[in-house]
Amino acid sequence: MSSIDSVLKENRLFPPSDDFRTKANVSGLEGYNALCDKANSDYEGFWAELARELVSWKKPFTKTLNDSNAPSYKWFEDGELNVSYNCLDRHLEARGNKVAIIFEADDGAVTKVTYRDLYQRVCQFANGLKGLGVTKGDRVVIYMPHGIEAIVAMQATARIGAIHSVVFGGFSAGALRDRISDAQAKIVITANESVRGGKAVPLKSVTDEALGLGGCESIEKVIVYPRTLNKCEHWNEERNIWWSALIKGQPTDCEPEWVDAEHPLFILYTSGSTGKPKGIQHSTGGYLLGTQVTMKWVFDYKENDVFWCTADVGWITGHSYVTYGPLGIGATQVVFEGVPTYPDAGRFWSMIEKHGVTTFYTAPTAIRSLIKLGGDLPKKYDLSSLRLLGTVGEPINPEAWIWYHEVVGGGRCPIVDTWWQTETGANMIAPLPGAVATKPGSCTLPIPGIIADIVDEAGAPVEPGKGGFLVIKKPWPAMVRTIWNDPERFKKTYFPEEFNGKLYLAGDSAHFDENGYIWIMGRIDDVLNVSGHRLGTMEIESALVANPLVAESAVVGKPHEIKGESVVAFVVLKGNRPEGEEAKKIAKELREWVAHEIGKIAQPDEIRFGDNLPKTRSGKIMRRLLRDIAKGQEITQDVSTLENPAILEQLRHSAL
Ligand code: WT7
Repeated sequence: MSSIDSVLKENRLFPPSDDFRTKANVSGLEGYNALCDKANSDYEGFWAELARELVSWKKPFTKTLNDSNAPSYKWFEDGELNVSYNCLDRHLEARGNKVAIIFEADDGAVTKVTYRDLYQRVCQFANGLKGLGVTKGDRVVIYMPHGIEAIVAMQATARIGAIHSVVFGGFSAGALRDRISDAQAKIVITANESVRGGKAVPLKSVTDEALGLGGCESIEKVIVYPRTLNKCEHWNEERNIWWSALIKGQPTDCEPEWVDAEHPLFILYTSGSTGKPKGIQHSTGGYLLGTQVTMKWVFDYKENDVFWCTADVGWITGHSYVTYGPLGIGATQVVFEGVPTYPDAGRFWSMIEKHGVTTFYTAPTAIRSLIKLGGDLPKKYDLSSLRLLGTVGEPINPEAWIWYHEVVGGGRCPIVDTWWQTETGANMIAPLPGAVATKPGSCTLPIPGIIADIVDEAGAPVEPGKGGFLVIKKPWPAMVRTIWNDPERFKKTYFPEEFNGKLYLAGDSAHFDENGYIWIMGRIDDVLNVSGHRLGTMEIESALVANPLVAESAVVGKPHEIKGESVVAFVVLKGNRPEGEEAKKIAKELREWVAHEIGKIAQPDEIRFGDNLPKTRSGKIMRRLLRDIAKGQEITQDVSTLENPAILEQLRHSAL
């Protein structure tokens, strides 16, 4: 880490316009500083006040933070609430006829759902779940296309106090099985298939396959939503039930299950540095508060906004800024089923025009690919409804930032570059757009109440310009509560002994610049960031070695123009090292294998075969050398500890 020195090159500063600043929910640096001062002088009081203002409680809390069992922090623990009540019921009086969701399907068909409609659909489905015997604390796996029904399923699960675990529809049967089995889920909610970019993707048959792999004996029912007219094979009368049959005759009201603030709202699996994904468990009260406060401050939410976060509900961004954030605050939001490039690379821009989107939140990888496919396309559309832009998932390169700002935002919209993680629940470091001037590529300053720092190995703060570990120094309401089934791993990963168990270790390296702005430099663990998605190198390696041909493998990341990082796998086969056409054939097979084991998103972009891998005398694979080889760089590092230096030459020429 001490060798990480940052290169400061971006100094352009973009303050908000006077108009934006004047109307903003947090106005000017004075406004930002006043909130930070409040948090500094009375941390618990600061959060308690926000929790009373932004969350509706059935039973008010009297205790704010309980840190007696750190790092298992508890927030608002004696308060009672229901998240679905907060997202639906509380809006009915003032906003019953307000559109909650403008859904645009892959083929362009638009469906609008009001808060009252949504309330009724959620209640019916919640009653249906109850009818199947789902009760408080039961786990429900949701493996669905991105759309209204997925949101209904999540809200209904929350309504009855059950715990959802959404599995992204691009994950394979194996990945689905692992998550069902770890969560010991009772129900899977799925669809016959999903539709993206004009193509149907099977879901029900993958679910069947997952259940057939073993370890899913906890599953009692599989609810199937018919997204397309294609029929389902292998309908199991006992296990399967159609969505329509489940809600048939169910009342359109359902008393919410009031739960403690600390009751788990959901589990969401994410990759870590071992082969096994971590079940990140979030709470009810603190999590909801995190989404609400950031909707207000970071997205500067206004009653007439049309909010659009392009993330799928299969990821944390889709949880916090599709299912819970916008609905909690009573927003109208766009939900888009498809992909940004179908039918062409103008899809996002045409939808912004059509629906009058004011706030648009997407990922740098999408921005980069759209620049490449049609940098002038936004100019063909009227994007004047936009007032605020956002990004998330990885650092945004200044070129893409400037394009987003000029071509999409017409130079008038602030860009909120939001740093956060599955574990943090909500935005953590991001400019409050009417207060903090932005710099292309920096996520700027922590939001008020988030105490972030960058430290060295000893936990001491680093000087500006020096790289270090990004840490959070105080617990915050929306933080991860534990890793499902693995509290030890929770402690070790996020509150390591090295920092006395006191600092939350984010797993990113970062540096401050001379203005105290934070610049994220990348992961410090064996985690890749491919198109804004987190992939564990070990997870891909385990998938590869599970193939009968493979003896050993090492996976590293390599910079990629559009995806941010691409996946390079070095593979040693059990038999001879393949060459020429044979190597290509096996590489293709292995790519398909990984897609089948984990999902297409984890497929190596490149596979290189060797007789061996570069290892130290103690047998540790030297990944930094593999990273250099993948990038095609000369190896200038010390290789004296290497057991078999000759292997480097072979791997250097191993590109297919
Ligand atoms: C990791 C978290 C949070 C939703 C999306 C990803 C990287 C995220 C930024 C940003 C630089 C970022 C970090 C982080 N990351 N946002 N604005 N600038 N890096 O969630 O899968 O939990 O991944 O994504 O490396 O640790 P995730």
